[in-house]
Amino acid sequence: MSQNARKILVTSALPYANGPIHIGHLVEYIQTDIWVRFQKMCGNQCIYVCADDAHGTPIMLRARQQGIEPEQLIDSVSTEHRADFAEFNVAFDNYHSTHSEENRFFANTIYRRNREKGHISLRTITQAYDPVEKMFLPDRFIKGQCPKCGAQDQYGDNCEVCGASYSPSELINPVSAISGVTPEQRESEHHFFRLGDFESMLKQWTRGGHLQNEVSNKLDEWFAAGLQEWDISRDAPYFGFEIPDHPGKYFYVWMDAPIGYMASFKNLCDRSDDLAFDDFWKPASDAELYHFIGKDIIYFHALFWPAMLHGADYRTPTAIFSHGFLTVNGLKMSKSRGTFITARSYLDHLNPEYLRYYFAAKLGSGVDDLDLNLDDFIARVNADLVGKVVNIASRCAGFIHKQFGSRLADEIAEPALFAHFSAAGGAIAELYEKREFSRAVREIMTLADQANQYIDDKKPWVMAKQAGRETELHAVCSMGLNLFRQLIGYLRPILPATAALSEAFLRVEPLTWKALAIPLTGHEIAKFKPLLTRVERAQVDAMVEDSKENLEASRTAAPSGPLVDDPISGNVEFPDFAKVDLRVVRIVAAEQVEGADKLLQLTLDLGGETRNVFAGIKSAYAPESLPGRLTVMVANLAPRKMRFGLSEGMVLAAGPGGKDIFLLSPDSGAEPGMRVK
Ligand code: MSP
Ligand code: ZN
Repeated sequence: MSQNARKILVTSALPYANGPIHIGHLVEYIQTDIWVRFQKMCGNQCIYVCADDAHGTPIMLRARQQGIEPEQLIDSVSTEHRADFAEFNVAFDNYHSTHSEENRFFANTIYRRNREKGHISLRTITQAYDPVEKMFLPDRFIKGQCPKCGAQDQYGDNCEVCGASYSPSELINPVSAISGVTPEQRESEHHFFRLGDFESMLKQWTRGGHLQNEVSNKLDEWFAAGLQEWDISRDAPYFGFEIPDHPGKYFYVWMDAPIGYMASFKNLCDRSDDLAFDDFWKPASDAELYHFIGKDIIYFHALFWPAMLHGADYRTPTAIFSHGFLTVNGLKMSKSRGTFITARSYLDHLNPEYLRYYFAAKLGSGVDDLDLNLDDFIARVNADLVGKVVNIASRCAGFIHKQFGSRLADEIAEPALFAHFSAAGGAIAELYEKREFSRAVREIMTLADQANQYIDDKKPWVMAKQAGRETELHAVCSMGLNLFRQLIGYLRPILPATAALSEAFLRVEPLTWKALAIPLTGHEIAKFKPLLTRVERAQVDAMVEDSKENLEASRTAAPSGPLVDDPISGNVEFPDFAKVDLRVVRIVAAEQVEGADKLLQLTLDLGGETRNVFAGIKSAYAPESLPGRLTVMVANLAPRKMRFGLSEGMVLAAGPGGKDIFLLSPDSGAEPGMRVK
């Protein structure tokens, strides 16, 4: 590392630990990874940390649905996330979790220091409460009719039909999305972070060159609307950190989430000899700190986060880099269209280098959304990467091996052309630094065109057939490979795997930015193997098909309730519906389930065969009222292991929930075992 190397700490937003990484997320991790790899190639000390965001109500409920502890859920999701990132070559220096002792320590410290300075206040508020689930309901978990347009089944904070925003108390006929009962209003004491205390500090900070212009402008609107106190506590049951001086109260997930950046870095420092936490986080630190985030989470990162840090005597970020959202074929990613593509289903079909390249070719420094058009994706990857870049190497390598003992010529044939390529490095570096990746890619592809033009003009394949032109042929092919080396060096932050294969082919050390200006002469190279193959349309089609199937699989495995926000994704074709084996059954026994608020354990008679089924009908039926009654069950549902035992089917009932859940009437003339037609 050189004397004037910069010290840089970089983060990407912490993905929630309740679902898989998808290609929308990857926009961010790939963007960040490219920037980090570029910094490392320039010889800067650049540390890239991330973690899973493991706390909050959705994660608690998801675990409950699967009948496992939240710790188990976040462990298995963490393993999947790490594998996805590794295979996309997103190279974190550390990947940790917000559910960690380091994070508990910093969350407590930041809370305590702010409280000691009077930045935390306590206030009693009234909130929706689910009496069946015995918990307060986050807005996302209340559904009802939109107060503006009357649309049914809208979430507690905004309407997807007319776009109106409102508070959950305005919803018509609100119900809990978890249990289906009408929520009550209950009081509870909450902790608030007094954001308004930081107004002048924040006004300065947000205009201090730490944000993109369009983001600063957005913040002006928020300042004009007034900085509200921020509710940072939640009542039990909650999966998170208990607030030290308030048993039964927990830090809200968004309070300890950004602190996870510090926790992950601390965890890394504790394992390395040359990294000191304070160097990067003390108020007067000369290290740079950058957060890459999506535009949906600007409020948390540009207001709450710097204020919390400032209030706790830590340094504030050097800059926050926000990006836009990914659409696929011009539309929001959709499970029914097969464009909600997980990292895993992409990896099952396609090389990650393609997507890294495509995103880079589309990413600028602004917050504009970007589109993955699948036709354009195929065309662009094939034309640019395979057709232009890799092609240069394959056009030249064969002659070097066959006729020159795999040895490059001792001199550069066209010093001016080589110098032109080297000189372009400065401008390309500047574009990377400013996150203008699409412009960097354009510059590099212009050079690739020039390299191909050079080979087209010289026509080595003609030289090879003419006696006496060996020296010329050697010179041209060596020149071509030198230009290829520069191109792949410039693309290296974007294409780490292809660059590694190219380095092995050229038998060179990992390329650095500086090394690219020095030509490779009198040097023996390895045998050429294809570096990158074409994208085939069939692969893309198969990936889209699979993404449709994946949804069906995940539906049966774990109903995701209010977490799936794709209203038209649930269509079942008739042949699939016909597979459902509906049977009339008689309830032989019904018992309470220890530790379950909603469930009854039922023993069902299918006309000879008996089944054990757990049903969420406790709010409507006393167990002693059930034996002897008939109901309808799904008899061929795969058995599911729940926290309380094995459930061998599902009982069907109708009604809004709570007291109103209806089983079949006892005198319908049906017999146990009868198929329902
Ligand atoms: N857990 C929070 C972040 C806490 S950071 C202290 C969160 N998680 S997330 O999993 O929903 O999103 C992680 C990142 O991916 C966010 O920056 C988000 O903006 C980004 N993206 C999620 N979907 C995206 C697209 N469709 N397109 C581009 N970025 C997307 O938010
Ligand atoms: Zn509406």
